Order: sequence, then C-alpha cells, then structure tokens
Amino acid sequence: MASKNSCACHGVLVALTSCLLLLAAAATVLAAHVALGQVWSPAVATAGHHHSPPPASLPLPSSARGLVNRPVQVGRMEVGLAQARASIRRASRTRNCTPDDGGGGGFIPRGAVYRDAYAFHQSYIEMEKRFKVWAYRDGEPPVVHKGVDAAVAGGGIEDHLVAELDGRGGGRHRARHPGEAHAFFLPISVASIAGYIYRRDMIDFWDPQLRLVAGYVDGLAAKYPFWNRSRGADHFLVSCHEWAPILSAAKAELRGNAIRVMCDADMSDGFDPATDVALPPVVVRVPAPPRGGAASERTVLAFFAAGGVARGGAVREALLARWEGRDDRVLVYGRLPAGVDHGELMGRARFCLCPCGGDEGAAAASRRVVEAITAGCVPVLIAAADDDDSYSRPFSDVLDWARFSVAVPAERVDEIKDILAGVSDRRYTVLRRRVLRVGRHFRLNRPPAKRFDVVNMVIHSIWLRRLNLSLPY
Ligand SMILES: *[C@@H]1O[C@H](CO)[C@@H](O)[C@H](O)[C@H]1NC(C)=O
Ligand SMILES: *[C@@H]1O[C@H](CO)[C@@H](O)[C@H](O)[C@H]1NC(C)=O
Repeated sequence: MASKNSCACHGVLVALTSCLLLLAAAATVLAAHVALGQVWSPAVATAGHHHSPPPASLPLPSSARGLVNRPVQVGRMEVGLAQARASIRRASRTRNCTPDDGGGGGFIPRGAVYRDAYAFHQSYIEMEKRFKVWAYRDGEPPVVHKGVDAAVAGGGIEDHLVAELDGRGGGRHRARHPGEAHAFFLPISVASIAGYIYRRDMIDFWDPQLRLVAGYVDGLAAKYPFWNRSRGADHFLVSCHEWAPILSAAKAELRGNAIRVMCDADMSDGFDPATDVALPPVVVRVPAPPRGGAASERTVLAFFAAGGVARGGAVREALLARWEGRDDRVLVYGRLPAGVDHGELMGRARFCLCPCGGDEGAAAASRRVVEAITAGCVPVLIAAADDDDSYSRPFSDVLDWARFSVAVPAERVDEIKDILAGVSDRRYTVLRRRVLRVGRHFRLNRPPAKRFDVVNMVIHSIWLRRLNLSLPY
C-alpha cells in the first residue's frame, strides 16, 4: 500500500535540517500539523493579517473538532485519509510528487505563488484519486437547489459546484453510496429560501427561513445516521448568497461544525477559516471577457470603479474622496461614465484597486479581486489596519496572496499614486506573471470543470477541511 502512494523519489532527499528551514521559510507547519491530524493551519494561512474574533453573541461552535482528539477506532475511511496525509507530508519534505502528467492540460503547480507547491500538488492528486462526496437527494424547492442543468450555462460558481457535486452530474467525486463518502453535501439553497420567504412573508422575516433550514437538517439527521455520527463535521453546504452566514446559523452544529462554503468570508459575520471555505464569486461571462493587454499596453496606472453598490465603507469613501476625477493616471470612479467598460479598463490598468472589508460586503470585495486577476491586472488590496481586515481570501491555505498582490494600508490611500508608481518595472513584471499564473485557479469553465480551475480549487478546499478531521469510521 505504502509503495502505491510513495512519491517517485528520484530527487535528492532534503536533509532534515534544511527541510525544517524550508518549512519554516514557507511558513508551513505542515508536518507538525499532520501529526495532529491537521494539514494546513489557517493561523499560518492568514498570518500577517489581523483578524478580529467573531462577536461573542454568535453561538459557539459545539466542537466536533473535539472528536479529533478523542481516541477513535480507526476505520477504513481513516486508513485512506491517513495515507493521503502521509503522502502530502512526504511530497512537501522531498519536494517531489507522485508523477502527474498534468492530466493532458500540462499544468503543474510550481512557484512562489504557492505556500507549498509540492504539498498542494500532492494533495490535489490525492483528492482526485480518493475524495468522494455523497449528495443528499431529499427535499424540494425552495429548500434545496432546483434543477441545476438549466442554470449552469450562464450561471455562477454556486450553480457549477452544485452541478459538479449533487450526484446527478456524475462528476469524478460522486460517491456511489454513502458508505464510501468522505463528505456529505447538503443541497440547501439559501438564495431560493431567501427569495421564497421574501415574497411570502415580509413581517416575520428570519424565523421562517431559519426554521426551514433547521428543519431540513433535523429531518436528515433523523432519517440517516450520517449527521449524528460526526455532528455535522463532514457535511457541507454551498452558497454565494449574502444571507448564507445568517441562515446557516439556524443550527449550532451547522454553523460551528459543518463546512460552510460561502462567498461571504467575512470573519466579523461569523466565517471561520478553520472549518469554512471562502467561495470566490465568479460567473461565466458570455462572451468571455478579453484577457486584457500585455504590460506595455497598460497605460493606466491604477483603476477603481465603485459600481452600483449602495453601501460604501470607510476605505472606499476615502479612496473616492481623494482620487475621484482628480488624476489621469489613477482612474477612480464612483460610477462609471456611460460608454466606459469596467472589464476593458481592468485590461488597460497596471493595478486594480480593491478596497476590502468595510461595509461593502466580503463577497463584493472578493468579486473585484477575482475580476482583476482574471483580467491580468495586479490587485491592490487596501484594508484598514485595525479590525476591518477580517476577510478571509479564497484558497489562502494554498496560495500566498502576498506574492501576487500589493497590500496598501487604508491610512496611505492618499499616497497610492507614489506607492504604485514606485513599483519598478522588474517587480511589476514578476507580479504580473504571477497574477497570470494564478488566473487559472479563478477561472470558471463551462462544465465539465477543468483541472485546477476554480470549481476544483473549491472542492480541494473542502477536501483539505475534511482531511483535517479524524472521524471514527
Ligand atoms: C440523531 O440525533 C437526533 C437528536 O439527538 C435524534 O432525534 C435522531 O433520532 C438521531 N438520528 C438517528 C438516525 O438516530
Ligand atoms: C485543523 O484542526 C484544528 C483542530 O483540531 C484546528 O485548530 C485547525 O484550525 C484546523 N485547520 C484547518 C485548515 O481546518
């Protein structure tokens, strides 16, 4: 069994000391954490940012993570997961992975944009080989997703994930029966519940919605043994709706234990990077947006347009107050003038300004960052140094955001022109190359999903959370 998973060690084994240095340098405590049943530590993944803890009023996670440390009878499932953890640890140590031909696409994750490219690559290979998801088929609209096929053609990331995972799609990760599943997909549709109740009942607003969600989960818990045995820790839901953090708090175990895959990855809204997954809000655009110009064609230094979002947030206000209509190299708009195209300007700018946090909403902030990356524009993450930066970035347990973005503290918004003009051409070329490199991880392809694209990256994030648990079966 071991040989089946071992890396092809034709590389030189890294001596233990340099290995430790390497791990430290990469700020990865992979080995130590795997020994404890953890793979990536979000404390590491988010190092360098200040995060405020969730407000005390939110229900505390009733910890299924307590299960992790309880002596468990290791089951069949655990043996496979233990092998996956071991091979990831080994790949990180030896900097060598199970041979991977790139699945025909020829893409191999390497380079500085990854926290640990070898661990990630091996983890991805293990995911493809093993990860099985069972989708519950119980329930009817509006509680669960409606038929997904029709929605997918022009749909967003949520539709694509549902199609990939809900069992009807017949994707790679579909479990044939619940017994072989590592994770259980709750096909709850927050958007559909929200729309339904909104029309029906404007007065008693949250209660009926919360009852629908709690009732659905209770129903599954009564009917099947799966929820109770893990107290929800191996269950997940997917939603890009801004109410997902609220509705998924309908049950303490759903909020605290389950893996909530949400576009709203704001920790001040209760997002927990250890158990939840930040879903990048992406849609398929028809026709596909232009890739954006080469570096030499990017004549605009920096670009930002607030768009139609009503709430602003302090950072955005400061940006508009200082720069709107005041500079011909730093183009900042409250509202884009008629005839000016957002995507086209992103394609002509060297840097795209992305004020994060504040009141605008994590999903809206994240959408702008993702659009910048797919337009080949280097994102400039502007966040207040204090509690505003509580937003968890997509795939940050794999990607090192500092390597392909520029961070500017909100206090220095006035100096932004000098700061960005001061980035040397050489440095800019490096940044831009990396942005193009990570672009594939944010791209939404028409079904079926492609290797390492955004849908598979999200599934990998779920896989990582699952890998971090030891459950007694
Ligand atoms: C799971 O637990 C709930 C609450 O304790 C209980 O009502 C339900 O019957 C249990 N489900 C099964 C399948 O035993
Ligand atoms: C892994 O689990 C531990 C608790 O056992 C937790 O502290 C840590 O944040 C988890 N990491 C991830 C990435 O889920």
